[in-house]
Amino acid sequence: LCGSNCINVTSPLTWEENACGRDLFFLFIDGFIYFGIVLLLETRVLAMMIRLLKARLRRVQRPTISQMRQESVIEDSEVLQEEQRIRHLTATQQGSGGEALVVSELTKVFKNFRAVKHLTFGIHQEECFGFLGVNGAGKTTTFRMLTGDCLPTEGNAFIQNSSLRTDLKRFQSYLGYCPQFDALIDRLTGREMLMLFGRLRGLFGNDLLDKVEKMIRLTDLSKHADKQTQFYSGGNKRKLSVAIALIGTPPLILLDEPTAGVDPVSRRKIWKILAQARNNTGAAVLLTTHSMEESEALCNRLAIMVNGRFRCLGSIQQLKSKYGQGYTLTIKLKREDENNENTLNVIKGHIQSNLQGADLKDDHQGMLQYHVVNPSLRLSHLFKFMSHMKIQFQLEDYLISTTSLEQIFLTFARAQRVSGE
Ligand SMILES: Nc1ncnc2c1ncn2[C@@H]1O[C@H](COP(=O)(O)OP(=O)(O)OP(=O)(O)O)[C@@H](O)[C@H]1O
Ligand SMILES: [Mg+2]
Repeated sequence: LCGSNCINVTSPLTWEENACGRDLFFLFIDGFIYFGIVLLLETRVLAMMIRLLKARLRRVQRPTISQMRQESVIEDSEVLQEEQRIRHLTATQQGSGGEALVVSELTKVFKNFRAVKHLTFGIHQEECFGFLGVNGAGKTTTFRMLTGDCLPTEGNAFIQNSSLRTDLKRFQSYLGYCPQFDALIDRLTGREMLMLFGRLRGLFGNDLLDKVEKMIRLTDLSKHADKQTQFYSGGNKRKLSVAIALIGTPPLILLDEPTAGVDPVSRRKIWKILAQARNNTGAAVLLTTHSMEESEALCNRLAIMVNGRFRCLGSIQQLKSKYGQGYTLTIKLKREDENNENTLNVIKGHIQSNLQGADLKDDHQGMLQYHVVNPSLRLSHLFKFMSHMKIQFQLEDYLISTTSLEQIFLTFARAQRVSGE
C-alpha cells in the first residue's frame, strides 16, 4: 500500500545502527569503569599499586652490596658506630627505645636518582642534632620523609612506640615542623595561624591564648601579629614558621633552615627560644642550617651530609679534633702580584720546600690557603717563618688560625662536587 515509502517501526532500544541500544549499553559500561577509577583514586589504592610495582621493579634493579659500598664511601668510624648502635637498638628494643627519634635505613629514590641513601642515626632526648650539607645533599628530602610529606622508598623511623610507616598519624603528633619554604595561609594573620596550629595540637581556652601570646612575644612578632601573612617580610615569615613548629610543646622539633633570612638580633632570639624549649619541655631538636655559627651555638652533635649520606658525625669538638688538626695559613699577595704566575710559583715552591706538612687547599685572586698538619711544628716557629716570608716576598698580609668548622665543611663539600660531577 505505501510502496517504497514504507517505514518499518522498530524499538529504539535495539542493537540496530539507527537505534540507541548500543550507546546505552556502552554508557552503562563506562559508568562502571569511571566509577571504578574514582574509587581507586579516592581510596589511594591506585597510588599504592603503582608504588608496589615500582618497589618490585627497583628490587630487580637493586645494586649489589659491593656497588653500594663503592657508591657510599663511608670511612668515618663515628658514622659506622652510630649505624651499628641503631641497628642493635632496633633489633633489641621496640620503637625508639630511649631515644627521641630513631631513623633506620631511610632511603629515597626519585626515578633513578638516589637522594637519600640508607640514613641510620638516632637523636637523644633533649639533644639538638644538626644536619650540614651543600645544596642538594638530601637534607630537606629527609625531613619530608620524616614528616610524612613524601613516602620513603625504604627504611623507617620511630618516635616512642610509633612507626613512620605503620602509625603515621601518631608519629606526626609528636612532631613540630618548620619547613624550608614557609607554608603559611596567605589570608590568615600571624595570630590566627598560631591559634589554628595551637588548636590542632590540642590547646584550647586560656591556655591556647596564653601560648599564642607567648610565642608572638618570643619571636618578636607583636607588631605584625594582626597582619595577614601575605604581607609579611621573608624574615618574619620564617619567625612565624618557627613559632608554629614550637607551639604545643612537641617532643621533637624539626627545623629546616629556621633562621635563613632572619636578622642577627632575631636569630639570636630564636636560638634562645630553642634552648628554652629543650630545657623547659625536654624537646629534642633536629635542624638543618648553612650557618656554622648557628650549629656551633645550638648543636650537641652534627653530621655533614654528602650525596644523601653522612660523611662525618660527632660533636663539634670531636669533628674539629678529627678533621681539623693543625693550622690554617692564609696568605694574601699584593694587588700587583695577584696575577703574576712567577711570583705565585716562587712562593708556593718556598712553602713546599720549607714548611713540612703544608697542603695547598685554595688558590684564587692572590689568596693562598694552606692546611698545615705537622705535630712537631710550634706556633711560634710558624709565626717566625711567616714574618720572614712577609718581608722576603713583600706579602700584603698573612693569617694563621686553628681549623674552623667551616673549613671542615668545605673539605666535605668538595667531595659532593667531585662525586656529583
Ligand atoms: N620531587 C623531587 N623529584 C626529583 N628530585 C628531587 C625531588 N625533590 C628533591 N629532589 C632532588 O633530591 C636532591 C636532594 O634535594 P634536597 O631538597 O633534599 O636538598 P637539600 O639538602 O635540602 O638542599 P638545600 O640546602 O638546597 O635545601 C636534589 O638533587 C634534588 O634535586
Ligand atoms: Mg633543603
